[in-house]
Amino acid sequence: MSIALPFIDIIAGARPNFMKIAPIIHALEERLKTGGSLKYRLIHTGQHYDQKMSGDFFEQLGIPKPHHNLEAGSGSQAVQTGAIMARYEELMMDKGKPSCCLVVGDVNSTMACAITAQKLHVPVAHVEAGIRSGDWTMPEEINRLATDAITNWFFTTSENANNNLRKSGIEDARIFFVGNTMIDTLLRNLERLEKASCWDEHGLEEGDYFVATLHRPANVDDEKGLHNVIETICNNTRDMKIVFPVHPRTKTNLESMGALPANLICVDPQPYLQFIYLVKHAKAVITDSGGITEETTVMGVPCMTMRDNTERPETIDEGTNELVGTNPQALIPYLDKLFAGEWKSGRIPEKWDGKTSQRIVEALEDLLAARKLNENAA
Ligand code: UD1
Repeated sequence: MSIALPFIDIIAGARPNFMKIAPIIHALEERLKTGGSLKYRLIHTGQHYDQKMSGDFFEQLGIPKPHHNLEAGSGSQAVQTGAIMARYEELMMDKGKPSCCLVVGDVNSTMACAITAQKLHVPVAHVEAGIRSGDWTMPEEINRLATDAITNWFFTTSENANNNLRKSGIEDARIFFVGNTMIDTLLRNLERLEKASCWDEHGLEEGDYFVATLHRPANVDDEKGLHNVIETICNNTRDMKIVFPVHPRTKTNLESMGALPANLICVDPQPYLQFIYLVKHAKAVITDSGGITEETTVMGVPCMTMRDNTERPETIDEGTNELVGTNPQALIPYLDKLFAGEWKSGRIPEKWDGKTSQRIVEALEDLLAARKLNENAA
């Protein structure tokens, strides 16, 4: 499909991207209906390709069919990144270059498309820019650093992110503190959550079970380590059930565990509306994800993060999240605190108000119009 100028490319690659792009697309479409001029071309890189990791999210969140699917698929870090870069470059050469490439988050698709666009002189807008864990062993941190090094316009979720960017020499005029698009999606969908099929199947009750998610290489790639985390969780949650949506990356080493603890309920990766339903009604969440800590903060659900660092410190300083570390034994005092009814209550961070995508679209319209004026004047 060919699109008349001006248009921006919106890049979506992996599961955590889909809830971030959905509200931006909806805001763009709203603007178009009311006289806005900015069109978009949706590019799916194919980093995540399953129905469960991708298709379900497009359907539930009302994301239109992508204009192009690069079908990059899985591979090592370099193989996957390289495939996305080569295919996105080819697409821009064959089908035209956008006025701007908008990337979200920190996955391989984010970095790959940002670099490819910038090398073809296409300005880059990064949504969720500036967050830093300081942990260079995580591919996501390398993706954040590399993307922000060549980003023109930084859309940020927090004052922490703004400060990280300022420290790296980015001038304020290029930083737009807009809030959190993932929370736009959460707030928009809270009224239409759907009960997960495991709810009735396993007799789940509100506040009487945990949700656990683990997919970081540090927690799941080592077989013994994964078994240890799971056993520690299951042995210390006072016989409560643990609902565990198993990420494809975690599956192999979980299977080698043999007999699983009786209170562990393993389920497939859940669609968005079912997953948020499970989280909203859980006693607490145990996770190594970043995004989930933002969602639990907004819903006021206690969250324990099995990592040594976080790029989202506001979920701890302001929200309901605690950084437990990667040693499973460290969970025990946090669980004691939870069962003693002493978990902190937290508050919602500034601008996580459901209007972030509108702010992004308005800012982009202004930025692209100003750029056009400059080009015409030159
Ligand atoms: C990626 C992101 C991570 C994000 C996570 C959420 C990077 C570096 N990492 O990690 O930031 O939190 O997604 O899910 O970009 N697979 C499937 N079906 C799919 C997709 C993947 O079976 O639809 C399998 C792959 O074959 C591979 C494994 O899952 O074996 C990992 O996928 P990959 O995209 O490489 O990284 P994630 O661990 O999912």
